[in-house]
Amino acid sequence: MKHESIETNAGLLIVLTLIVISIGGLVEIVPLYFIDSTIEEVKVEGKDTIRPYTPLELRGRDIYQREGCYLCHSQMIRPFRDEKLRYGHYSLAAESKFDHPFQWGSKRTGPDLARVGKKYSNEWHVQHLTAPRSVVKESIMPNYPWLSRNSLQYKDIQDRMRALKMVGVPYSETKAEYEANVKRFGEDVAKNLDIINAEKNLLAQAESGNYDGKPEKLSEMDAVVAYLQVLGTMVDFSKFDEGHFAKFR
Ligand code: HEC
Repeated sequence: MKHESIETNAGLLIVLTLIVISIGGLVEIVPLYFIDSTIEEVKVEGKDTIRPYTPLELRGRDIYQREGCYLCHSQMIRPFRDEKLRYGHYSLAAESKFDHPFQWGSKRTGPDLARVGKKYSNEWHVQHLTAPRSVVKESIMPNYPWLSRNSLQYKDIQDRMRALKMVGVPYSETKAEYEANVKRFGEDVAKNLDIINAEKNLLAQAESGNYDGKPEKLSEMDAVVAYLQVLGTMVDFSKFDEGHFAKFR
């Protein structure tokens, strides 16, 4: 059959196109029926190391969304060599399993932030968010001076956690849920996932972390910096062999 006869016969072209697309679809879909999960299991000494955000980090994430940081920053390191050299190990699916909505982003006007946690000091972040050009001269990032000025509103923190619980994030409300979290994440983490004590935990973390450098004030800056400092730090890749996670790709 001549190619021309296919191209000039719309009916035949449609049928053949559908066949080709179906094969492509099957190649992608069928393997999913033969694996248990597309999300990696990341356990160290029997405990999950990827955990939901603490109440303070969660408020930080909400402000990150409110300010539209995701419009310029992705949070997904792709499995390419240049990305690994610049940002570190490629992002695991498991690292965003508790993010609703996920923050992968679609555009990098600024650098990827998936592993920005612990890369800079708290002071650096405060300075940078307040006036980016005072630390990176050529930066085009906007100033966010109000983050330090605004007091952090946290009275609705329990509702925010409950909303995430509804979509599957394991924050606990009952004793049984708490016990399950202790088993899964260890006691220190489980305490921070407890909805009942959320306000108390939020205040305690802000005080001990002193993220904005002003212990007398609980500001939105405290929450945003707490959030930035945890990004990408939950998996200690030195504990896994090179290529350990490759089978999930
Ligand atoms: C208009 C685009 C834009 C927006 C919106 C934006 N940024 Fe940036 N950001 C940049 C650019 C460009 C850089 C690189 C230059 C620099 O460090 O300032 C950057 C750098 C950063 C860095 C340092 C990353 C690194 O690895 O050096 C952090 C952290 C950061 N931004 C956080 C934020 C947060 C938090 C918000 C929201 C409150 C935000 N950005 C909003 C453009 C943006």
